[in-house]
Amino acid sequence: MSCLSERMIIRGGRALSGGVVAQGAKNAALPVMASALLLRGRRLTLDRVPDLQDIHTMAGLLRCLGAGVEFENGRMTIDVPEDLRWETPADLVRKMRASSLVLGPLVARCGRAVLPLPGGCAIGSRPIDFHLKALAKMGAEIDLEHGSVHARTNGLKATRIEFDFPSVGATENILMAAAMTPGESVIENAAKEPEIINLAQALRGMGARIEGDGTGTIRVDGTKDLESSSIRIIPDRIEASTYLLAGVMTRGDVTVNGINPEYLEALIVKLEEAGIPVCVFADSVSVSCRDRRWKGVTLKTLPYPGFPTDLQPQIMAALSMADGTSVIQESVFDSRYVHVSEFKRMGCKLDMQGNTVVITGVSQFSGAEVRASDLRAGAALILMGLATDGETIVNSLNHVWRGYESLMMKMTSLGAEMELLPDAEEA
Ligand code: UD1
Repeated sequence: MSCLSERMIIRGGRALSGGVVAQGAKNAALPVMASALLLRGRRLTLDRVPDLQDIHTMAGLLRCLGAGVEFENGRMTIDVPEDLRWETPADLVRKMRASSLVLGPLVARCGRAVLPLPGGCAIGSRPIDFHLKALAKMGAEIDLEHGSVHARTNGLKATRIEFDFPSVGATENILMAAAMTPGESVIENAAKEPEIINLAQALRGMGARIEGDGTGTIRVDGTKDLESSSIRIIPDRIEASTYLLAGVMTRGDVTVNGINPEYLEALIVKLEEAGIPVCVFADSVSVSCRDRRWKGVTLKTLPYPGFPTDLQPQIMAALSMADGTSVIQESVFDSRYVHVSEFKRMGCKLDMQGNTVVITGVSQFSGAEVRASDLRAGAALILMGLATDGETIVNSLNHVWRGYESLMMKMTSLGAEMELLPDAEEA
């Protein structure tokens, strides 16, 4: 992956028009990559893997643990040797919260793991206590020493785990650990995200028996002897939704191809409620917003199938252009409104009260120099820049490159005018 600049200028005000193909889902590819660690002298092949910074971070982490990772044109092969290292390097783990996904596989496979507490987007406190409690219930001894988790076991045991909250990462970690633990494990209050189903498909391909993925109760009949397998990564529902919102906000018409429209249901419902026509086909979704206005709506972010928190900044941007008032309540993360101050720089009228933001629609944003505070906030600022007559400069795009493959190419193919600028210190 080439090193992309962290600054972009957008000359907005053009209606975007045309079609793009959704990338593979980052949040499905990352846990599936981690699941390869369960193999012993075997290979996992993944197709439709997006070429993103986070994917390279996970590949680097797997290599440090001893796996051979090759990645070209969306196909990744992960060869896992008999002997694996179980101590994870702090520099890679701190780059990305999803690094914690290697914990379950390492404990199940090696009986040991050391994981520095992970980093990631600046979107509120993001502990991994559910992951640790569940691994402890499966028989792992867990200690926190000098900022790192130390886990060890003489063998995990199958058991019943009930999460207090349907955490995506904790469900994935325990699903992977259970896939290699003989006997029946039951995960209650499991996350239902499509990415969990994709991971379960990968684990089934390796030989684990899993039922109920996509529901709140997952049953896993694990085995020590997992086999080589291959898996196709599902399309990225957050990326797809971001392009649809670009069509809406520029009052254009955009089609996203190669997706499962069911995954976008929560967004489609809200767009229709706002008065935006959406066309749903077998594997594509279109919005058509020429000369249209839309009205404000109320929404709350929730675990799947509710409205995704990863779309909250982007929908806030779209609702900032609506007629009337909208209300967004963030219920998944405790402080995912870091972007509000940057949105205000561009003329948004936002009143934040705790985890609720009241949005009063404005007829026009004003171009400004802004900074992406995290991945999805950065995407939302780009959407606002595209919808603004005038110039917008977005800084700290390193966050955006973690999640959007070929964003410049896709946006410009739809008619956007945007250009990367030299990084500030070079300018
Ligand atoms: C995943 C996604 C992320 C998305 C999030 C919610 C990946 C790689 N990332 O993150 O893009 O925003 O789901 O859809 O798939 N929590 C705890 N203790 C825990 C675990 C979670 O308190 O042990 C809390 C978190 O702080 C947060 C909430 O539970 O408030 C949801 O987190 P979780 O579902 O675990 O998100 P991630 O798996 O980190």
